[in-house]
Amino acid sequence: MNDIHSFARPDEAVVRHLTLDLTVDFQRQRLSGSATLQIETRDDARELVLDTNGLTIDRVVLGDGSEATFALGDPKPFLGRALTIRIKPETKSVRIDYASSPDAAAVQWLAPEQTAGGKHPFVFTQSQAILARTWVPIQDSPGVRITYDATIRVPAGLMAIMSAENSTQVSSDGVYHFRMPQPIPSYLLALAVGDLEFRALGANSGVWAEKPMIDAAHYELVDTPKMIEAAEKIYGPYRWGQYDVLVLPPSFPFGGMENPRLTFATPTILAGDRSLVNLVAHELAHSWSGNLVTNATWNDFWLNEGFTVYFERRIMEEVFGRDYSEMLSLLGYQDLEASVAELPPRDTHLFLDLTDRDPDEAATKLAYEKGYFLLRLIEETVGRPAFDAFLRAYFDEHAFQSMTTAAFIEEVRNKLLSEHAGSEDRIGLEQWINTPGIPVNVSQVHSDAFTKVEAQVKAFGAGTAASALATDNWSTHEWIHFLRSLPKALTREQMAQLDAAFKFTASGNSEILHEWLLQAIENKYEPAWDALEKFLLRQGRRKFLKPLYQKLAETPEGLDRARRIYAKARPMYHSVSYRTIDQILGWAG
Ligand code: BES
Ligand code: ZN
Repeated sequence: MNDIHSFARPDEAVVRHLTLDLTVDFQRQRLSGSATLQIETRDDARELVLDTNGLTIDRVVLGDGSEATFALGDPKPFLGRALTIRIKPETKSVRIDYASSPDAAAVQWLAPEQTAGGKHPFVFTQSQAILARTWVPIQDSPGVRITYDATIRVPAGLMAIMSAENSTQVSSDGVYHFRMPQPIPSYLLALAVGDLEFRALGANSGVWAEKPMIDAAHYELVDTPKMIEAAEKIYGPYRWGQYDVLVLPPSFPFGGMENPRLTFATPTILAGDRSLVNLVAHELAHSWSGNLVTNATWNDFWLNEGFTVYFERRIMEEVFGRDYSEMLSLLGYQDLEASVAELPPRDTHLFLDLTDRDPDEAATKLAYEKGYFLLRLIEETVGRPAFDAFLRAYFDEHAFQSMTTAAFIEEVRNKLLSEHAGSEDRIGLEQWINTPGIPVNVSQVHSDAFTKVEAQVKAFGAGTAASALATDNWSTHEWIHFLRSLPKALTREQMAQLDAAFKFTASGNSEILHEWLLQAIENKYEPAWDALEKFLLRQGRRKFLKPLYQKLAETPEGLDRARRIYAKARPMYHSVSYRTIDQILGWAG
């Protein structure tokens, strides 16, 4: 299959194994060294084509020791430059000596003051979707898999970890060796270096964090082994050996990233009450959907994320019960409706057409939630036992392979729907996948807990004092639902009442605070301005930044305030986040 986001021509010459030898230079903010690629070629192959973006290529040497002729193509927006290497018919490996640029989009360099410990620098990578090419010359397509090993040289005293087999001990000379024996797509290459500590959670799982965060991280993630057990029970053995979670400094731009053996996670999930750990279930679920069976191209992104949300909620149901997972599904349905309202219709198909577009644009909630609701509909139509048997076989049969939307449709038809008369008509696969919006046969989610929340919202709207509402023992999700369901316009008096009764402005729960701050901007509730600014300055998760800056930008005064805050905050954000916010605020530098 052709990947429009890669220059590579794997049909001619394909990379099978990568050996990295990199020095991490904090002063110059660059990674430099070599990438040695083992390749497999067609008989008539003349060229190996790789993806690069911002890399300086010093030299290319073929396996026989001879100097290779190479050329860098013209830079293309967000795709970078093709690196075309002249090879010989017998060439089996190629070594590239290179360095990354200080503004490599995948790599964020943090000064000591941007870390929790405050004493040591930190660096981490984020390769999905097409940012691996900003730190490794590689065939940067999810349809190409490689095994890898790496030698990483860091300042003595710092810890280095990768999406691979890791030592848990600081090396005395700052040299670390890694090995990833299972083949992975390039977007799962990951590295983090800092003053990190490891704490075991179970026999095959643990948590990494900066020292000042490790206790809180360990407390929050203590249910991880149960999640692994639940996942294995549903879709078969975890195939990657160890499962660890790295809690990053606050500028990490995503909630989580499913780097194999080592999920990267935002510290904003550390709510203190374990209420945001569905994020771990999500990233763990990618160990099957995504990391084992991988979207062939970024147009097929929903195959990664829709399946993962489905599996995430199955894990949550298994560990915390159906009532809990249904709350998550109902919040997901709200996200789906919001995405459909906000996105242009063509971006509300599951199968996307990202021709001439940055695949980062596909990373909307739509792929997640419309994908989830399609899979849920299939489950409800054929019954859970049949769907589970199908999915388990799907993960087994396609393990370590990529999957296109077309191949998925064919498989679900031939192996599942054909056994259940009339199911295909009731589901309408084509409509879900290739037409916009939410099909009318979408499953209805029901949550008694949320019905009770809605009654309280109604009472508040009708004049009951906030302090008199029945909110005892509400979970984070009930609070989120409450905040999202409030009447559109609230008076200053109502906002003040809510804040006095529930202390939203002072909330330490990032999800609750985020929903409240949206209300505060909408309703011009000034007592929350300070908390808003602090929130935008203390974390860099795009999912929180984007809606808040967007909402601020709706009014001239808000836009002004947003720009003032952003001028201070931007240097701490990762490129993934600041590129998005630059657009919202019309930021030219
Ligand atoms: N793989 C994604 C993050 C991602 C998507 C990075 C697209 C780059 C491009 C990850 O698994 C994810 O979905 N994270 C969510 C977590 C959530 C759905 C629980 C996030 O970061 O918010
Ligand atoms: Zn995901």
